[in-house]
Amino acid sequence: MYRTHTCGELRISNLNQEVTLSGWVQRVRNLGAMTFVDLRDRYGISQLFFDENISAELKKKLDTLGREYVIQAKGTVIERASKNSKIPTGEIEIKINDITILSESQTPPFTIEDKTDGGDELRMKYRYLDIRRNPVRQGLELRHRVGQEVRKYLDGQNFMEIETPVLIKSTPEGARDFIVPSRMNPNQFYALPQSPQTFKQLLMIGGCDRYFQIVKCFRDEDLRADRQPEFTQIDCEMSFVDQDDVTNMFEGMTKHLFKVVKNIELGDFPKMTYADAMKYYGSDKPDIRFGMRFVELKEIVGGKNFVVFDSAEYVGGICAEGCSEYTRKQLDELTKFVQRPQVGAKGLVYVKCNADGTFKSSVDKFYSQDDLKTWADAMSAKPGDLLLILAGNTAKTQNALNELRLHMGKELGLRNPNEFAPMWVVDFPLLEWDEDNNRFHAMHHPFTSPNPSDMHLFDTDPGKVRARAYDLVINGVEIGGGSIRIHNTELQKTMFKHLGFSDEEAREQFGFLMDAFQYGAPPHGGVAFGFDRLVSMFAGQDSIRDFIAFPKNNHGRDVMIDAPSMVADAQLQELFLALKKPDVNN
Ligand code: AMO
Repeated sequence: MYRTHTCGELRISNLNQEVTLSGWVQRVRNLGAMTFVDLRDRYGISQLFFDENISAELKKKLDTLGREYVIQAKGTVIERASKNSKIPTGEIEIKINDITILSESQTPPFTIEDKTDGGDELRMKYRYLDIRRNPVRQGLELRHRVGQEVRKYLDGQNFMEIETPVLIKSTPEGARDFIVPSRMNPNQFYALPQSPQTFKQLLMIGGCDRYFQIVKCFRDEDLRADRQPEFTQIDCEMSFVDQDDVTNMFEGMTKHLFKVVKNIELGDFPKMTYADAMKYYGSDKPDIRFGMRFVELKEIVGGKNFVVFDSAEYVGGICAEGCSEYTRKQLDELTKFVQRPQVGAKGLVYVKCNADGTFKSSVDKFYSQDDLKTWADAMSAKPGDLLLILAGNTAKTQNALNELRLHMGKELGLRNPNEFAPMWVVDFPLLEWDEDNNRFHAMHHPFTSPNPSDMHLFDTDPGKVRARAYDLVINGVEIGGGSIRIHNTELQKTMFKHLGFSDEEAREQFGFLMDAFQYGAPPHGGVAFGFDRLVSMFAGQDSIRDFIAFPKNNHGRDVMIDAPSMVADAQLQELFLALKKPDVNN
C-alpha cells in the first residue's frame, strides 16, 4: 500500500496513528539535529519530522532528498510544537521512521509554490510542473466541478449527451478551419469542427429532442486572452422550442451553476436588444456591472463652428462620476489612450463639471457656459463629474467610446471580478455586410432563423432583418451564443442565396442538411457556452489559459510537446502532399 492517507488529510484527531504518506518533496529544512520536510500532493501539505535519533540508513536517505523527489514516508502522527494555522494539517506532523524514494527529480526550472518565479513560457514548457502548483490545480478542479454540475443539471432536464465526430466537413462559424488530409482518399481533406452545429441539428431531425455535449471545437483564428485554437463548448440543442424556451432553460442552468459552485443567487437576467447594446454601450457584449451609458449629443452640439463636431456623423459621451478634478496629465493620458490604434479615436473632448457649478472644457473657445450646461444636463451630470466626448464615424466612434468606458470602469474600480452581471443580448442582425468582399455574411451562422416579422425586409433591406439569435453576456464577456434555426429547405435556400452561395455551392457544402430537412425537421434551436470562458469567469480571471490543462501559447504552439512540427517526407508522401519543406528562414 503506497499510502494510508493523503497529504491534506491528517488532523489532531489522528494523533498517535501509524500512517504512510506518499507525495512530492516541496521543501527540506535541515535545522541540525532536526529536519523537516514538507510533503505535497493534490490534497495538501503535511510536515514530516525527522529527529536526531533516526537510523544512519534513514539519515543517508534523508540527505539525498531534493525538491520534487517522490517519496513514501512512514511514521506516527504527533502534535506540532509550533503550530501553523495557515494550513489544515498545521497542528500535526509525522514523526518519520522510514522513507522510500520512489522517484528522483532534477532541480525544477521554477519554484513550485503559489507564487512562482517561472515566466509564462517556462511554465508552459513544463506545464506538468505548473499543474502541481495550487492556483493551476485549483483552476482544473473548478473546471471539473463546473463540468460535473452541467452534466447533472442537463441530465435532470432530459438532455442526452451524444458525441459527434471530429473528422468532418467544414462548418462555417466564421473562422478558418483546421484541415486534416485523408490518406485513403487522396487529395481530400477533413475539417476539424469549429462547432458541432450541423450535427446537433441532424440529431434533432433524428428525434433526440434534447442534446448536449461538452466538446472540443477548433478554430484557426487570431488568439487573445479569451481565445484558444482548440477550446471547449457546452453545446446544446432542443426541439419544439422558441427563443424564450432556450433562454429560460440556460438561464436556469447558469443560475444553478452560480449557486452550487459559487453560492451566489443571481436574479433574473435582463434582455437587451443588439440595437440598444450598440447605442448605449457601443458593444454587443456590454459590461453592465456599472453605468456610464453613452449619451448621444449630435443634436445639441452643432452649429458653433467646432468643425470636429459639425462634420461628425456621431457625437457621443460618457459621464465619469466624481472625476472633475482630473489633472492635465490624467486627461492627456486618456487622450493618448483613445488615440491608440486599437481604440482609433482622433481626439478626446472633455468637460469638467466643477464643484462650484461652472464648467471647464477643452473646447471652451467654441462653447459658452450655457452650452456646456446643456450637455451636462443631457448627460445627467452633477457638479464634480467629468464628461468625456468622442466624435466621428458612428460605428468607429461607438467602438472607441466603448473602449474608453471600459477603461474608465477599470480605473474607477467599477469592474469588480467578484460581482456578476449576466444578461441576454437579443435581436442580433441576421446578416452583416462584409466591406472587403462586398457581400453579406451570416452574423451568427447560416442556419440561424430570421425573425418572422422581418421577412418582408429580405428583398428590400436585408441588412435590417433581425435574427432569432441571442448571446449570454456576463461582465462584458460573451459566454454563450445561440439561435432558433431554420428548419425548412426553402428558407435555408433563401438564406444561402443572400449569403452569395450559388445553388450548386450550397448543395455541395450543405446538401446533407438540406436533404435532411426534407424528412420531417422539427422546429429547433440551441446554444453553446464557451466552457473555458465560463470557468475563468467563475474564478474572476480574464485569461482562459489557466483553466485548460495543456493550453497553446499566443502563436498557437504547444511549447511542451513542440507542436505543430514538421513531419517526415514519407508521411507527406502517403498523404499525397508536397514533399518540399518550406525554408523556415525565408
Ligand atoms: P459561437 O461561435 O458563438 O456559437 O461559440 C459559442 C461560444 O464559444 C466560445 N468561443 C470560444 N472560446 C474560446 N476560444 C475560442 N476561440 C472561442 N470561440 C468561441 C464563446 C462563444 O460564445 N454553433 C454555435 C452555437 C449555437 O448556435 O448553438 C457556436 O459555435 O464563449
